[in-house]
Amino acid sequence: MIHSNYNIKHLNSFGLSCTVNKLIEINNEDDLYLINSNPDFLSTKNIILGLGSNSVFVNDYFNGTVLLIKNKGIKIIEEDKDSIIIEAYSGEDWNDLVNFACGNSWGGIENLAAVPSSVGAAIVQNIGAYGQEIKDSFLCCTTYNPQTNQWKEYNNEECKFDYRYSIFKYQTQLEIIWKIRLKLFKKPKLNISYSAIKEKIESEAIEITNPKQMSQLVTQIRNSKLPNPKELPNAGSFFKNPVINQEHFNSLKETYPQIPSYPSLKGVKIAAGWLIEQAGWKGKRVGNVGMHEKQALVMVNYGNAKGEEIVNLAQEIEKSIKNIFNINLEKEVHIIL
Ligand code: EPU
Repeated sequence: MIHSNYNIKHLNSFGLSCTVNKLIEINNEDDLYLINSNPDFLSTKNIILGLGSNSVFVNDYFNGTVLLIKNKGIKIIEEDKDSIIIEAYSGEDWNDLVNFACGNSWGGIENLAAVPSSVGAAIVQNIGAYGQEIKDSFLCCTTYNPQTNQWKEYNNEECKFDYRYSIFKYQTQLEIIWKIRLKLFKKPKLNISYSAIKEKIESEAIEITNPKQMSQLVTQIRNSKLPNPKELPNAGSFFKNPVINQEHFNSLKETYPQIPSYPSLKGVKIAAGWLIEQAGWKGKRVGNVGMHEKQALVMVNYGNAKGEEIVNLAQEIEKSIKNIFNINLEKEVHIIL
């Protein structure tokens, strides 16, 4: 279906009011012809939208085409006694896929429970939480390029996954991730190493023995500190956790011995939420936007936020983190102009 001058306020979790010139809804392979038969498509800006959980529309008009990917389906491809390969279409809700896997006791994505995302966007972003990333279970994906009308397959290595990154993140050619395959395990080794998980297991004296219990625990932790976009619209972590060099980290550690940090291949990763809290932004509201009172990394929309307010607050925060810690914050959300 093609909609013209369509307001996508209900299609982005930040709840931003934005009218798009064209919105093409893709429910199945047959609908792909709608893209090719739309004369404006190749000559205008275009973006792909899944569940809209990470997209921030900062203008009230988008003069281009939004492709809304809603193709659904999950199936088993093959299995042996240890592992199973499942295929999911990109318009599936990521959490439905996690529940399907955990409900069958297949492990590999249980720590990614309750991440708001479509399956396709989960690959673009290489979603990660509580010590797991989707790249750890990812086998391959099939993409469709509407400009060349070609289908292509990418294996794990070809996606060049990194922290919140894959080659699909900054595309020069528009490629729609159409379906993905994951390899999951029947006797999974659960990862309880992340401190929030360890603390919860210890404080409640519980035992976690299967993926389903793990996904429930992760869901509880997330619900306890991350705002529900349906109640307080937001796009999850607004900034990435920055990576700094060891020397810089050592000098910060002298002044701030409690600074949360994680080892990273490129240096030391710092918790951006902690930096933002230290700089005094946690729970602070500026007009219609603010940084969440329980997780300073999440910007929230108190209602009718304007793109300008989001951009200004982000700039103020970036400036203050630079001044105090000499660290450049990068946005994790996708800003759409
Ligand atoms: N912290 C603070 N103040 C805050 C927030 C956090 O001091 O206001 C401290 C916490 O105490 C902890 C550390 O910062 O020591 C890390 O916090 P948390 O465990 O909440 O995780 P995060 O690093 O802020 C990342 C991801 C989240 C993911 C969590 C859990 C990024 C940008 N964010 O957040 O992903 O759910 O880890 O693994 O990497 C998302 O991408 O949208 C997202 C929510």
